[in-house]
Amino acid sequence: MNSSKNDQLREWDRAHYWHSFTPMAGYEPLVIARAEGSTLYDVDGNAYLDAASSMWCAALGHGHPRINAAIVEQLGKMAHCTSLGMGADIAVRLAKRLADLAPGDLQHVFYSSDGSSAVEVAMKQALQYWRQCDSPRTNKTKYLAFGQAYHGDTIGATALGGIGRYHDAFAPVLCEVIRVAAPDSRSAKSSPLPGGEGEMARALSDVRTVLESQADTIAAIVVEPRVQCAAGMLMHPPGFLAGLRKLCDEYDVLLVADEIAVGLGRTGKLFACNHEDVTPDFLCLGKHLTAGYLPMAVTITTPRVYNAFLNREPTDDNTFWHGHTHSGNALAAAAAMATLDEFESGLMDELPAKIAHLNKRWREIATSPRVKHSRQCGMIAAIDLHEPKGQAIASYALERGVWLRGRDDLVYVMPPLNIDATDLDRILDVVAAALQKI
Ligand SMILES: Cc1ncc(COP(=O)(O)O)c(C=O)c1O
Repeated sequence: MNSSKNDQLREWDRAHYWHSFTPMAGYEPLVIARAEGSTLYDVDGNAYLDAASSMWCAALGHGHPRINAAIVEQLGKMAHCTSLGMGADIAVRLAKRLADLAPGDLQHVFYSSDGSSAVEVAMKQALQYWRQCDSPRTNKTKYLAFGQAYHGDTIGATALGGIGRYHDAFAPVLCEVIRVAAPDSRSAKSSPLPGGEGEMARALSDVRTVLESQADTIAAIVVEPRVQCAAGMLMHPPGFLAGLRKLCDEYDVLLVADEIAVGLGRTGKLFACNHEDVTPDFLCLGKHLTAGYLPMAVTITTPRVYNAFLNREPTDDNTFWHGHTHSGNALAAAAAMATLDEFESGLMDELPAKIAHLNKRWREIATSPRVKHSRQCGMIAAIDLHEPKGQAIASYALERGVWLRGRDDLVYVMPPLNIDATDLDRILDVVAAALQKI
């Protein structure tokens, strides 16, 4: 009976559910019924370790008692009120807490519901800032972004993106973005310097060349600090972000740090910007913000930017006329507060040992002759393969109870930050076995 009900679900899934980033022609339904800890369970009761944290958001796994309780408690008070001209008390507390945690003078928190929107907010605020700051520069309407960048799928964020398959079709409707090849730690070829330093010098020099001639038309540089996840875990050489900050200061261009994927613990520090003591002009956070429980993202900016949006004369209209129905949603804010509670009660202290263990095991995995390149940043570990066997490895892993997000040329793990040692080892054992067997 159950199995025929589940077959029915799979049929409806195939017929009616158009999945994100999924080639639907070959789609094999995987219908998840519940989840607990680092494990997802499908409708037939099969268990899968969530090795990609449900696309990089389930920082604390699933069914976390603290977050469940916080959402239920908030539900008893209020699910939602608008952020237009008012706001939920819990969203006020969250804004204060994020302002306290964020680097430097990032003080002003604008709420949205997903990472793409948080990036669009930064793009729009940057552009509007230049129109109404003390010395307006209305020509500053372009953005600089990097090769293979991914900043989301709304049209503004799509314009920033540099992954042909995702972005090229939309070129006719996109705003102008100047693209510089990302510095990739893998390719030190362009210089005799080791470990990607040459790449960093090349990329910073390319950015400088663009700024020398075009800074007066560029509103902001947008970057994924340290790791471009969607690009295939492309890791920047350390120092690149700080180099960008310097160039932005020198040429008076704003810096947007898109930490949707890497923010809040993923790289081993609370923010990826913390590795290089960088304060961007905009910090975008999403995914881990509510540990993936509810949709919420934020764009945090500085008094310099914020003050340009205050009306100084009665005739001014400097307001940021932008918002989303669910901006500052109270349930999501409660989930975010509980997530931050968890971060502040030991989770960050446990990370270094976990990262070191992942490093040790990943180095062993990388000795396989199938591995072309291996890299790690915090709780992200990736290998490039000599052959396009990534999908086959993902299928092998799925049959053995590990969900990896398959990519042709790449295998990566990005597990919940609170995954226990047994589950982490099981994921790594399955990856190691797959490299031998496939
Ligand atoms: C760096 C980065 N920016 C933005 C986004 C878009 O976030 P969302 O899918 O929540 O719109 C993503 C999503 O993966 C991302 O990795």
